[in-house]
Amino acid sequence: MEENVIRHDFSISKIQRSELKKQKPMLLWFTGLSGSGKSTIADAVEMALFERGIHTYLLDGDNVRKGLNNNLSFSPEDRTENIRRIAEVANLMIDAGLVVLASFVSPYREDRENVKRIVGYNNFVEVFVNTPIEECEKRDTKGLYAKARAGEIKNFTGVNAPYEAPMIPDIEIDTTVVSVDEAVLVIMGVIAKKI
Ligand code: PPS
Repeated sequence: MEENVIRHDFSISKIQRSELKKQKPMLLWFTGLSGSGKSTIADAVEMALFERGIHTYLLDGDNVRKGLNNNLSFSPEDRTENIRRIAEVANLMIDAGLVVLASFVSPYREDRENVKRIVGYNNFVEVFVNTPIEECEKRDTKGLYAKARAGEIKNFTGVNAPYEAPMIPDIEIDTTVVSVDEAVLVIMGVIAKKI
């Protein structure tokens, strides 16, 4: 079936769209345990970019799983499909000229590698929000760690499902030693040269 689908190249290119926006599109990928602070930091970075007139979009695990990916579970296969779809969506947004922020647990190294392949290595910045599990569990803002420990959630990352930490992330943040404002400064410092 797929071999009968031929890609069509349209007149306006990705480069032309991004020149119109006067910004270089890219994907900022936040990975880390549930409760590590990914979404809080991504939110604050998006605000900082917005204030500089950068056109952004933020994709977030909980929200995307309520819509586009509401048929996916947390099995390894479904997480892989979750991340693949997000990468394809992010790629379309990059094509449209946006700076995309994506906040997903994305626990599998191979899945994150696949994101890089899909959007292109030059368009990708990996932010590892490396907050220790003890701290995430202490925060337990959604009560999910307690449920997982009680055996009410299976496949919960860090409790009864694995998290494969990035080997060489572009940026690493431990929220037990770095505040949200400091994290924003670090991230903005790294991406300022790229956008
Ligand atoms: S993944 O692994 O990338 O497919 O997960 P993601 O789409 O980012 O969704 C993570 C959010 O779903 C909630 N949740 C779980 N997380 C991990 N494991 C299990 N089993 C699980 N069940 C529900 C949780 O609120 C995650 O949100 P964050 O913002 O990371 O805390």
